[in-house]
Amino acid sequence: MRTHRVAFHRRRFSTPTLHSCSGDYAAKMHQDSASLLRRTLLFAVVLTAGFVLFRGSESLGFLSRFTPAPSDFLFPPASYISESVSKEYTLEQVLKNAAMEDKTVILTTLNEAWAAPNSVVDLFLESFRIGDGTSRLLNHLVIIALDQKAFKRCLDVHIHCFFLVSEGIDFHQEAYFMTPAYLKMMWRRVAFLRSVLEMGYNFVFTDADIMWFRDPFPRFYLDADFQIACDHFLGLSDDVKNIPNGGFNYVKSNNRSIEFYKFWYVSQDTYPGYHDQDVLNVIKFHPFINEIGLKMRFLNTAYFGGLCEPSKDLNEVCTMHANCCLGLNTKLHDLRIMLQDWKDFMSLPPNLKTSSISWRVPQNCSLDSLHHYASPEKVLHGPPD
Ligand SMILES: *[C@@H]1O[C@H](CO)[C@@H](O)[C@H](O)[C@H]1NC(C)=O
Ligand SMILES: *[C@@H]1O[C@H](CO)[C@@H](O)[C@H](O)[C@H]1NC(C)=O
Repeated sequence: MRTHRVAFHRRRFSTPTLHSCSGDYAAKMHQDSASLLRRTLLFAVVLTAGFVLFRGSESLGFLSRFTPAPSDFLFPPASYISESVSKEYTLEQVLKNAAMEDKTVILTTLNEAWAAPNSVVDLFLESFRIGDGTSRLLNHLVIIALDQKAFKRCLDVHIHCFFLVSEGIDFHQEAYFMTPAYLKMMWRRVAFLRSVLEMGYNFVFTDADIMWFRDPFPRFYLDADFQIACDHFLGLSDDVKNIPNGGFNYVKSNNRSIEFYKFWYVSQDTYPGYHDQDVLNVIKFHPFINEIGLKMRFLNTAYFGGLCEPSKDLNEVCTMHANCCLGLNTKLHDLRIMLQDWKDFMSLPPNLKTSSISWRVPQNCSLDSLHHYASPEKVLHGPPD
């Protein structure tokens, strides 16, 4: 196993200047909200159809269209977490350095494609800095690098970095949606998060293409073991028919959550060829969840939105996910607009921060562009989330 000696870089984050709002901004926002609503409604319809199809997918023979998950990926032993950084920076140490007083950490994963300068990670970190009360949360964010280049870049831009070595798997390229490499990366994430729970840490897992605009903690449910953001939220936080998105969840470390993560992981054998989110969509109905007493909650898109279903009111939004978007450049395009929208909003005087202001996205990530690829699974879950 390779050893990388690393230095801890502490870097001060400068506050970016806010751009002033252009005169026709509100008008543009308003104009776009109609098409947004149309898209959202269309999406809801497609989504419902996709979901019904998905639930009946075994009988429809969808399974055969996917390459099965590699069979050599067995239930991970505790030792699979590679301590490839120098001894000072084992996972235990990195988590300890980053944890809040109640042993909660914020975790994200990063590969080379997303770690490159001007790529996803820069926008992700910028969102914390320009967000409302989010910059302090950077002290609790651990970036899990999936390859060496991502790890190196992390050390340049952030304080808490961990290199998760993957024997024989190369995650450094953009992992295309539903390819074997993509599936492996997603399932590895489930296995890794379980071990974080076993180490006694609660976590907020966030994909790096989720912009943090407000502190999400006040919006979390106090009684839940596992709470997760949604591509599509039906209105009630305990309705298991909500369509969750695995890219953002808050999990408390306890026996129930650990049992649940084990169950989730082994369920990939029951549904080979599906990714973690698809499998979650099936096992969320399983009696095992009640047996272990896991309390699951679904987060309202009003606070935890995305391009599938945006948080309409910028006064309420906590996070916005570039879900329902295919391709890295397309994603970056819309994320930049999203950040600009936020900056423009923040620079408004309080009396103009009305709920009628909304996002100019999705643009290139629009569902129209997804129809080209229309298979129910892809429309349902978007590209790498
Ligand atoms: C988990 O269960 C074990 C055995 O049943 C028990 O000893 C332990 O205290 C439990 N831990 C938590 C965090 O609830
Ligand atoms: C975004 O869409 C516009 C208009 O269709 C196109 O000209 C541009 O190349 C796209 N950009 C990216 C990064 O996809």
